[in-house]
Amino acid sequence: MKILAIETTCDETAAAIIGDDLTIFSSVVASQEALHEQYNGVVPEIAARAHVQRILPVIQETVQKSELSLTDDIDAIAVANTPGLAGSLLVGVTAAKALALSLNKPLVAINHLHAHVYACRLDAGRDVFPCIGMIVSGGHTHLYHYSDALNPQYLGGTIDDAAGEAFDKVASMLGLPYPGGPAISKIAVDGNAEAHKYPRSFLKEDRLDFSFSGLKTAVRYSITGPGNIPIDSVKLNDQQKSDIAASFQQAVVDCLVAKAMQAVSKHSINRICVGGGVAANRVFRQQLQEACEAQGIELFIAPLKYCTDNAVMGAIAFEKLKAGLVEDLSVDILPGLVRA
Ligand code: KG4
Ligand code: ZN
Repeated sequence: MKILAIETTCDETAAAIIGDDLTIFSSVVASQEALHEQYNGVVPEIAARAHVQRILPVIQETVQKSELSLTDDIDAIAVANTPGLAGSLLVGVTAAKALALSLNKPLVAINHLHAHVYACRLDAGRDVFPCIGMIVSGGHTHLYHYSDALNPQYLGGTIDDAAGEAFDKVASMLGLPYPGGPAISKIAVDGNAEAHKYPRSFLKEDRLDFSFSGLKTAVRYSITGPGNIPIDSVKLNDQQKSDIAASFQQAVVDCLVAKAMQAVSKHSINRICVGGGVAANRVFRQQLQEACEAQGIELFIAPLKYCTDNAVMGAIAFEKLKAGLVEDLSVDILPGLVRA
């Protein structure tokens, strides 16, 4: 069995053809980074329009690369319909409905967050559920208890900014390009992670939540000093920037690692699966690995190329197909987060 999966929740237009043994026949991701870079973040209207331009070429390229036939070889169409930007989601969902209708194939709706966690399954070679699942992306920082791939229970998450969003905002303060995560981790290599004592919200508290907005503000004042000094008027040298980047990155990683470990001990589960763009962060991967090894916890982190948005993680659709969970053409987008 093979599916064509489509992903347009935010600013990547992506499609992939995957087999039910998780063979990847093709995967195409058209990034919009260049379009949003000048705004230091994703502009929803621009994202939606770019998806409209790219969706058909991306699907065509995906089919061509797979050397398969849409009509004869594909058994179902899968699409992420939640959560995400409304205009972006609409493009993918409309394309998927049109394909399902014209090809007379079943339509499967995917939750983008749970697909990020399912990315851990791709290289694992075996089932990774039940587990504590952590999604660390540009839009979300959440912890779930998954009894299986389709049954997550929400444990906690950010009460303000997502971890990736904080990386993007701090990068912008340091004059680094969007997306900020890769740019910050690059210059952090030359920095001292103890140069600045940034806050770590809720670290010692018995709650599985995150807050990164205070950290963002602390970074801002460590650049400008007290008062209302415009950030653009402050010129930092490369070492100062690296020290801020390294100290900020360490503060985020400390919170993520601590809450992941709290979640496993609180829910007596011996396994963590982590997905989402921030899971590509080298320091985070290494320190979470060390923490898990120290406590005998099994850790699966999404393969690097499937941390940021892609359609291969749409393979979670096979779990839905197995459970008989298909949609009719009335399926809608759900831009907001549905926690269950
Ligand atoms: O999962 P993703 O592609 O999109 C959402 O679903 O939000 O995540 C994008 C986010 C961006 O905020 C980006 O700065 C962050 O992931 N990111 C990173 C790294 N690579 C991407 N953050 C920290 N370190 C990285 N290496
Ligand atoms: Zn994502």
